[in-house]
Amino acid sequence: MARVRTTMPVLFFFVVFFVIGSVSGILNPVDFLALQDVRKSLADFPGSTFFSTWDFTSDPCGFSGVFCVEDRVVALTLGDPAAGSPGLIGRLSSSIGKMSALTELSLVPGRVMGSIPSSIVMLSELRFLALSRNFFTGIIPPSISALRKLRTLDISFNQISGVIPPSFPSSITNLILAHNRIEGKLPYWSLSTATSLLRLDLKHNHLSGEIGPLPATLQYLSVSFNNFSGSMDRFVNQLSSLHYLDLSSNKFSGVIPSYVFSFPLTSLQLQRNKFTGMVRPLPSTPMSIHTVDLSYNRLFGSISPAFATVKNLYLNNNKFGGKVPGSFVEKLVENGMQVLYLQHNFLTGIRMSPMAAIPMSTELCLQYNCMIPPVQTPCPKKSGKTKTRPTTQCTAWRTTGGAGSDDDGGDD
Ligand SMILES: *[C@@H]1O[C@H](CO)[C@@H](O)[C@H](O)[C@H]1NC(C)=O
Repeated sequence: MARVRTTMPVLFFFVVFFVIGSVSGILNPVDFLALQDVRKSLADFPGSTFFSTWDFTSDPCGFSGVFCVEDRVVALTLGDPAAGSPGLIGRLSSSIGKMSALTELSLVPGRVMGSIPSSIVMLSELRFLALSRNFFTGIIPPSISALRKLRTLDISFNQISGVIPPSFPSSITNLILAHNRIEGKLPYWSLSTATSLLRLDLKHNHLSGEIGPLPATLQYLSVSFNNFSGSMDRFVNQLSSLHYLDLSSNKFSGVIPSYVFSFPLTSLQLQRNKFTGMVRPLPSTPMSIHTVDLSYNRLFGSISPAFATVKNLYLNNNKFGGKVPGSFVEKLVENGMQVLYLQHNFLTGIRMSPMAAIPMSTELCLQYNCMIPPVQTPCPKKSGKTKTRPTTQCTAWRTTGGAGSDDDGGDD
């Protein structure tokens, strides 16, 4: 009897394999064993039922999240991709590196921890790797450039530390490293071979230093909430395909080059840096940017009327002076401009009737300039209660044009 009991499962296994084998081909044994290891090191977080279909006595190609072509696993989506699923817990087994036909590997948001197995660089067919919103720690495998077909790398919202790898494969199009603890510089050579890069998202890390030339193919660039410094002209001047540019909350300095306003941007976020000088969009090309935020810098000079076509314009907390362009008032009344934040500058006037019909939904703030605001419009709370800047500051600004004044009121 004892002999029968031990052989039964083995026999059953064999029969199952034989039956499936005759229908769809037997899963490659290396993939089979690797998949078992992957399963063993992960579990459903309470509330998730993802692994309920994973019964290794049946064909793994029928498991949820497992996609095969012939006898190989080509794609693996670990966790229930439905919105709100609690995801998985555990670790990602280094056996993943043995599934050499994998082209796609993704993990739904959850609580998977440990490091990203360095064995993934063995997956020479991998095109898509998405491990975002888990608890991965450790570093990005430095030889990631071995993944010659990798197009998307998304490891955002983890706790990855260390530095940016020395190079990326030339196939990379989406590089999303946002919301981690990556530090050090962005060496220009690490992206110099990434000649297909469309999206680069490094926001919310601990990166610093200057940024060098970036691939001219870029359409989306966000480096906000880091410690980058230096001039933006160094890396932005070739990027004329940019649709989205966010350099906010860094330590960039120098001038904002005129040509960026001619890029096909929908959003330009340069706020909370140390940009200085005058802002002069090229008058030849009408600006089609939807949102421009230059607030909390050290910009001075008069405000260009070219900004009248922008829907949401934030110029507050700078050193702008002179009169508000008349075209702005027209656009406000027509509801073409929906946000106009000019508070905490040195502006001397706006030609506007106190009766001007500013639409209710418009956000207009003129507080703390060198004028008495002609209309009473609600300002954001932190612009304070003082309507007008002290006359002494206004006089000082007039003598220097804002360039020499260190009092910018810009950090309040
Ligand atoms: C930037 O640098 C400062 C000073 O070195 C540090 O205190 C701060 O945490 C850094 N910020 C980021 C986002 O790394």
